[in-house]
Amino acid sequence: MRYAFSLKKLFTMKLFDVYPLNNISVVKAKGSYLWDENGLQYLDMYGGHAVISIGHTHPHFVQRIMEQLNKIGFYSNSVKIPIQEELAEKLGKISGRETYQLFLCNSGAEANENAMKLASFHNGRKKIIAFSKSFHGRTSLAVAATDNPAIVAPVNQTDNIIFLPFNDEASLEACFRAQGSNIAAVIVEGIQGVGGINPAKETFLQKIRSLCTAHDAVFIADSVQCGYGRTGKFFSHDYANVDADIYTMAKGMGNGFPVAGIIIAPHLQPKHGMLGTTFGGNPLACAAALAVLEVIEREGLMIHAKNIGDHIQSELKKIPELQNVRGKGLMIGFDVPDTLKDLRKNLLFNQHIFTGEAKPNIIRLLPSLALNKKDADQFLESIQEEIHAPALKGES
Ligand SMILES: Cc1ncc(COP(=O)(O)O)c(C=O)c1O
Repeated sequence: MRYAFSLKKLFTMKLFDVYPLNNISVVKAKGSYLWDENGLQYLDMYGGHAVISIGHTHPHFVQRIMEQLNKIGFYSNSVKIPIQEELAEKLGKISGRETYQLFLCNSGAEANENAMKLASFHNGRKKIIAFSKSFHGRTSLAVAATDNPAIVAPVNQTDNIIFLPFNDEASLEACFRAQGSNIAAVIVEGIQGVGGINPAKETFLQKIRSLCTAHDAVFIADSVQCGYGRTGKFFSHDYANVDADIYTMAKGMGNGFPVAGIIIAPHLQPKHGMLGTTFGGNPLACAAALAVLEVIEREGLMIHAKNIGDHIQSELKKIPELQNVRGKGLMIGFDVPDTLKDLRKNLLFNQHIFTGEAKPNIIRLLPSLALNKKDADQFLESIQEEIHAPALKGES
């Protein structure tokens, strides 16, 4: 018996160990809070990588998905799926892009992959301009356009991506001057997320727009992390008053339900078979995405995110130990000095607050757009406490 048990133990399937994990098991969530298996409550200032947009287990979100599941959960894109059109109509209105066309898929990387592919189909060209510190995902072209050689496998390496310094208009102009007729697309985040919350300058986005127009290249606005109302405008690129040709979106789109999409300007023409997916646009995913838009609209979450974000930023800027507080709305980053390098860990284990990080020592805040002032103030108090009394705290 004992022998049989140990053999079974020996062959129990393990998870592929690619994630450095915090030793916390979350089992329940509501609004801006999470609970672990022992009932300990955590404030979520990270939204699980910017995914939780309207709050964990929002009742309207849960109900809409459950109702949809009871009607039809899935059928393939070989028949009409009316809820896709309902989603396109609502997304067009709320984003102010009614003339654009929607293609639905399942993840941010897949959205970017399709956007770059579509650009190349459109103008028949191969070169994509991406920028230093960019992150566009982990599939083949998306990862090739990501400025992190450590996650690019040899098979993903390609000379079709040209990396230029972020926010450097002169080098962008020089590149277009030298090889404008080869450029299929420029892909840029409105605010770099994984790269450390680095906002694109408005003039830089305007320069991308004018150069893409002049050279018939496609302007791809990666809004996977910075989009969907998080910054106070539907797309953070909107602050520059420019229209991109393709916007990619995921994360906040489904509040945790895997759904992604690209919206495509009218001059980019579809052809049957050009793009495709099995799961993309399934009725359940569309119900989740519609529920998110309905809540964003009903609860005024875009303007709320801007106001709460402004409040957090202005308070953080009063803390002398924190440097370079930046971002827009509820996409905020700041640099932590070496003397406080354990701040994020201490916030988690001493104050029970989840935040995000970027290298080398940046804290990223990406909470739900519904974060209320009381919770924002609790975070601000807790961070002060951790900064001023670190010696009194033990680390777990
Ligand atoms: C800007 C940006 N683009 C693309 C992605 C990839 O999204 P996914 O992980 O859903 O493939 C991410 C993920 O962090 C992102 O931040």
